[in-house]
Amino acid sequence: MKGYEPVMSFGEDVAQMYRDRGDEIAAVAFLEQLAGPGPALELAIGTGRIALPLAARGIRVDGVDISPAMVDQLHAKPGGDQLSVTLGDFADVPVLGTYRLIFVVWNTLFNLLTQDDQVRCFENVAAHLTDDGSFVVEVFVPAFLYRLRHHQHVEAEAIAVDEVRLDVLRHDAATQRLEESHVSLSRAGVRLHPVVQRYAWPSELDLMARIAGLRLKGRWGGWDRAPFNASSSVHVSVYGR
Ligand SMILES: C[S@@+](CC[C@H](N)C(=O)[O-])C[C@H]1O[C@@H](n2cnc3c(N)ncnc32)[C@H](O)[C@@H]1O
Repeated sequence: MKGYEPVMSFGEDVAQMYRDRGDEIAAVAFLEQLAGPGPALELAIGTGRIALPLAARGIRVDGVDISPAMVDQLHAKPGGDQLSVTLGDFADVPVLGTYRLIFVVWNTLFNLLTQDDQVRCFENVAAHLTDDGSFVVEVFVPAFLYRLRHHQHVEAEAIAVDEVRLDVLRHDAATQRLEESHVSLSRAGVRLHPVVQRYAWPSELDLMARIAGLRLKGRWGGWDRAPFNASSSVHVSVYGR
């Protein structure tokens, strides 16, 4: 998508609409177990959907994010001003020190748009993990791409008298990129919410981990530790030394 920058997907309007997804309790329980006494670092912390309830369990949680609008929302929430957040690109892991737990959830690893950036992220994570530390990645499994016709997808997300919302997506198999826009049509005009992702299969992520000196320690089909199998649409993967 020519002219696209990841920060465009997380401006003021998106930050203000950002809500819980419903998996927060299970995700926090899963992460708390691995964090031990902490500290923990969330890559792409956003508005603190996961970081705030994890910090409320008594664990120090730091964060990295590229969007000032998302971080402003985090800081405005109760307890949000207690968290140390670095503005920057999470592929760089631009923080000091080491962490018992580093995590990146909700498909956000795929917001790094090249294989190089994703490998760089794994390498920088490895440099900031304690020897017994864990790196947790939650992303979708790209198997749904097999069902696309002509590498495209359009869905009517909502049809109301005063607004129609469409999800428009195109797949580029050569770059492993998904170019998507959520389009709102209403009397107020047309609003576009573009987002681009570079997906990877679980096996490619495992190789990235090995390049970074990490290995897969466990993989589940969700935060509830459902087994990972051919029907899984997401995976929660834990890497360590
Ligand atoms: C889908 S949201 C997830 C936020 C939060 N982790 C959660 O689960 O609610 C993705 C977040 O990633 C951030 N982001 C995207 N690309 C980034 C990058 N290269 N470096 C740092 N943050 C990035 C966005 O600003 C946004 O806050």
